[in-house]
Amino acid sequence: MTNFKNLIVTGGSGFIGANFIRYLLDEAGFAGRVINVDALTYAANPASLEDVAQRHGRRYCFERADICDRETMAGILDRYEADAICHFAAESHVDRSIVKPDDFIRTNIIGTYTLLQLARERAGRIVRFHHVSTDEVFGSLGAAGYFSEATPYSPNSPYSASKAASDHLARAYHETYGLPVTTTNCSNNYGPYQFPEKLVPLMILNALEGKPLPVYGDGLNVRDWLYVRDHCAAIWTVMQRGTAGRVYCVGGRCEKPNLEVVHRICDLVDAQAPKLADGRSRRALITYVKDRPGHDRRYAIDCTRIEQELGWKPAETFESGFERTVRWYLGNRKWVDAVRSGEYRRWMDQNYTQR
Ligand code: NAD
Ligand code: DAU
Repeated sequence: MTNFKNLIVTGGSGFIGANFIRYLLDEAGFAGRVINVDALTYAANPASLEDVAQRHGRRYCFERADICDRETMAGILDRYEADAICHFAAESHVDRSIVKPDDFIRTNIIGTYTLLQLARERAGRIVRFHHVSTDEVFGSLGAAGYFSEATPYSPNSPYSASKAASDHLARAYHETYGLPVTTTNCSNNYGPYQFPEKLVPLMILNALEGKPLPVYGDGLNVRDWLYVRDHCAAIWTVMQRGTAGRVYCVGGRCEKPNLEVVHRICDLVDAQAPKLADGRSRRALITYVKDRPGHDRRYAIDCTRIEQELGWKPAETFESGFERTVRWYLGNRKWVDAVRSGEYRRWMDQNYTQR
């Protein structure tokens, strides 16, 4: 068990980062201080942590900064006497990386490099650098088999290629300089506070508003779904008890074709919200649209290592996790309206006119 005193969380105002900070301060019994460092890009929402800041006072600090800005980041690490880093900050949306890869290369590769280098220069003090990564680095599976820690890298999108590069840098900083790095490669997360460009919140909100539900290709691409709190628990488990230099694959053992996920969301929205004006089921809103270029067919994680070595297991099932998630978006309109304004709307209008 490691007791960090001053934990830097990069990208803490994004989807998983915000859930992680909540988990640490509200549930995990973390006794130290969390310093959230976030540039507040379009994907961030400071409102996701408003109540946390109020409830936890000085145990939660926020710094608006770009992880690529070496000087500012050095100042933050030293001012807060950081002894651990949990690195979430990234450009995270595959479709955006296809339209405009620049920010992905910059933040995901240069940003991760900048942090690793700063941590290396503070080797005596920083006792853990946790790198949060994705199963997309492994590419695409056929009908059978699973991704595991032994799967060769084969990224197919600019997003996954940039994450693969960052994983290699994290690994190299352990092997070459002995930096105490751990990495998790996780499957698709869903849950509260997710930006509504991703499949799950986009479908919930469009279904609620009676808008078309855009399904790419034939809708039979498979993802392995994990409730975000379960991912947060996995990361914290690895940060505390994982072995430096080791990689852990994290997944929900919950493979579903996209169409099944969308059907489930439609049925839950039908059950939890007023019916559509014409009385149809929300399933009637499903619209097949042009496929994503290079769309990976199937992801599925074998998470035996983290289960057996560290005793982690997901708590939510597909049924309970999606039920909770739909209820959350329906009950948090203020958060949804804030996040859906401004740059989000402009980008969706420019790039997704068919919607
Ligand atoms: P997100 O897009 O919701 O949040 C990313 C956060 O990083 C935002 O708050 C943003 O402002 C911040 N950020 C971006 N560029 C920055 C910069 N240059 N400097 C400082 N902050 C910056 O992403 P997410 O879905 O929460 O994903 C978090 C991490 O988890 C990413 O590294 C992603 O690759 C990984 N991951 C995500 C999933 C998933 O299903 N969402 C699954 C596995 C791994
Ligand atoms: O696997 C982990 C990855 O999961 C993370 O590394 C990424 O950051 C995260 O965005 C997610 O990537 P995906 O591309 O799998 O997620 P997305 O929600 O964009 O899409 C999920 C599936 O749904 C995918 O097969 C594409 C499809 N899709 C997506 C959207 C947005 C649709 O059919 N219609 C849509 O409108």
